[in-house]
Amino acid sequence: MKTYKIGVIGGDGIGPEVAAEAVKVLKRVQDGFALDFVNFDFSADRYLKSGELVPDKEFDEVAKLDSCILGALGDPRCAPGVLERGILFRLRFGLDLFVNLRPVKLYTEKLCPIKGKGPKDIDMLVCRENTEDAYSGEARYENKGTKNEVAIQEARYSWKGCERIIRFAFEQARKRNGKKKVTLVDKANAVRAHEIWRRVYAEVAKDFPDIQQDFAYVDATCMWFVKNPEHFDVLVTTNMFGDIITDLGAMIQGGMGIAAGGNIHPGKVSVFEPIHGSAPKYKGLKKVSPLAAILAAGMLLDHVGQPKAAARIEAAVVKVLQSDALPSIDASSGIPTDKVGDMVVAAL
Ligand code: IPM
Ligand code: MN
Repeated sequence: MKTYKIGVIGGDGIGPEVAAEAVKVLKRVQDGFALDFVNFDFSADRYLKSGELVPDKEFDEVAKLDSCILGALGDPRCAPGVLERGILFRLRFGLDLFVNLRPVKLYTEKLCPIKGKGPKDIDMLVCRENTEDAYSGEARYENKGTKNEVAIQEARYSWKGCERIIRFAFEQARKRNGKKKVTLVDKANAVRAHEIWRRVYAEVAKDFPDIQQDFAYVDATCMWFVKNPEHFDVLVTTNMFGDIITDLGAMIQGGMGIAAGGNIHPGKVSVFEPIHGSAPKYKGLKKVSPLAAILAAGMLLDHVGQPKAAARIEAAVVKVLQSDALPSIDASSGIPTDKVGDMVVAAL
């Protein structure tokens, strides 16, 4: 029987609570394959105690896994960016996880804040580039500390970096049972360097004559997400724009409690996580929804080659959402995190 080695990084705040529910569900779908879980303590607590973020030895162990589930990172006791750069970006860049795959899928109409829109209108896949843009590289300063100071952060887009994410997006559009369309989201009308995305897109699109080409500026994309989300199928975009539009995407699919994503290198170890953060104020209270983490676990199974088990998880989450047993997916639902996990297990 095939056994997959799965890393579990609980992280900070509510991360460990939601990751535990994802593991609980994963344990129940081992049908014809097995999962072997290994815990990794990459967290603010550890950093504050020992100064360690991701020691090289543990990074090498992660690199040998089949995949990872990550709860959440972020803690108000650490300066902004320390954990993000030291842990999240170490994994994203270090493992070359160039795809940040974020489905925006409305599972049931009652979750949607947009009047008149239902599951048939909101079903898209955002392919966010995950290794370049203003996220990579150092900041530079001129005349630091003076009134003439200038801070400079370069947004970097390599041809290869654009090519691999755009090709990935076209492949997804071909695989999906959707509108067979790939929308390139950029700001080529204002940011000059974005014209490379247009050129690479045109080149890649030649290999996909069956897929419709589409372009939208990022500001207009935000408008369409709310006005006509049914316009979209697969979207491909820069790291920064992908970050921003997927928070909006999470809201139109029901909120941060449901939105999942994967940091992916096709065929290699990848890291799956709920899009929400560590929500420190809810830490230990068992108030938040584990559904995003559970859906991330489903994506993980798809990634390692177990699409049937992945589909079972997604179907169980849909069943729970459609039942009246779960009144909402925000922290006010009144149903503890582990009980929601049990509901998903029961619905499998
Ligand atoms: C995300 C998060 C991260 C990002 C933060 C925590 C650095 O917002 O995964 O969307 O910007 O990529
Ligand atoms: Mn984000």
